[in-house]
Amino acid sequence: MSSSININNVNRIYTDVDGNKVNALYDVSLDIRPGEFISIIGPSGCGKTTLLRLIAGLDKPQSGGLTIDGDRITDVSPERGYVFQQGGLFPWLTVEGNISYGLKTRRVYKQKKDSVGKYISMVGLDGFEKSYPHQISGGMAQRVAIARALINEPKALLLDEPMGALDSFTRADLQDKLLELWKENGITMILVTHDIDEAIYLSDRIVIMTPRPGKISKIIDVDLPRPRHRGGVDFLTMRKTILELFELAQALPQPEYVI
Ligand SMILES: Nc1ncnc2c1ncn2[C@@H]1O[C@H](COP(=O)(O)OP(=O)(O)OP(=O)(O)O)[C@@H](O)[C@H]1O
Ligand SMILES: [Mg+2]
Repeated sequence: MSSSININNVNRIYTDVDGNKVNALYDVSLDIRPGEFISIIGPSGCGKTTLLRLIAGLDKPQSGGLTIDGDRITDVSPERGYVFQQGGLFPWLTVEGNISYGLKTRRVYKQKKDSVGKYISMVGLDGFEKSYPHQISGGMAQRVAIARALINEPKALLLDEPMGALDSFTRADLQDKLLELWKENGITMILVTHDIDEAIYLSDRIVIMTPRPGKISKIIDVDLPRPRHRGGVDFLTMRKTILELFELAQALPQPEYVI
C-alpha cells in the first residue's frame, strides 16, 4: 500500500526570537509518486524538517497545500508514519510496549496484538521484546521507532535523519533494513538525510534544498540498478555531481533574511 503525495506552492514563514521573519519554505512544490523512495538533502536550516512536518500534518503552511492520494493533509494520521532523529521512544515502555503503542491509541490492540511479534521480527529485534530503551543500542532504538510507525500500516513513512546519530556500520545495516522494508511493504518513503552516499544508495530521486529562503534547488533521478555499490563508478560519478551542485549553491550570495 503506497500513496502519492503532492506539495503545491507551499510557504511556511516563522518568526525568530528577535522578531525577524524566516522563510523556512518558499513556494515549494513537489510531486511524489506512489511507492517512491525520495531523499531530501541540503544544509542545516534549508527547511527539510519543516517540509517533513507539513507532510506529516504536524504543522500547516501559510499558503499553498499538500495532498495525499488527492485528499488534503490537515492533521496527523497513522497513515503517515513519522520517525524522529533520535527515535523519541517512550523510556517507560519496553520494546514491545513502544511498538504496540499505536495499536492501543487506535483501540485496535485486541484485534491486532498478534502482529506485534511480526513487526519485532521485521526489524530484527526478536529476543528484545521486554527490554527498555536504555537497555538497547542506538541502532536498535531506531529500528524500534521504525517498527512503531510501520505497525500502523502507513502508506507513507517520513524519516527525519533516523540514522544521524549512528556509527557507519550500524548505519549501513539499517539502510539495508530500510530498503528491505520498502520492497516488502511498497510504502512511499521520504527520508531526510545529511549523507549524500545514503541518499544515492537508497533513493529513486534526491531532492536538494537550499536555505534562506528554503526551497528546492534541484531534483536528481538516481537511475542506478539495485543493489547499488557504494564504490561503483556510476555511484561515485553521481556523488561528484551532487557535491559540485552544493559547492555552486554555497558560492551564491545568501541574504540572511528574505522578508
Ligand atoms: N518553530 C520555529 N520557530 C522559528 N524558526 C523556526 C522554527 N522551526 C524552524 N525554524 C527556522 O526555519 C528554518 C528551517 O528549519 P528546519 O528545521 O526545517 O531546517 P532543517 O533543514 O531541518 O535543518 P537541520 O538540517 O539543521 O535539521 C531555519 O532557519 C530554522 O531556524
Ligand atoms: Mg531538521
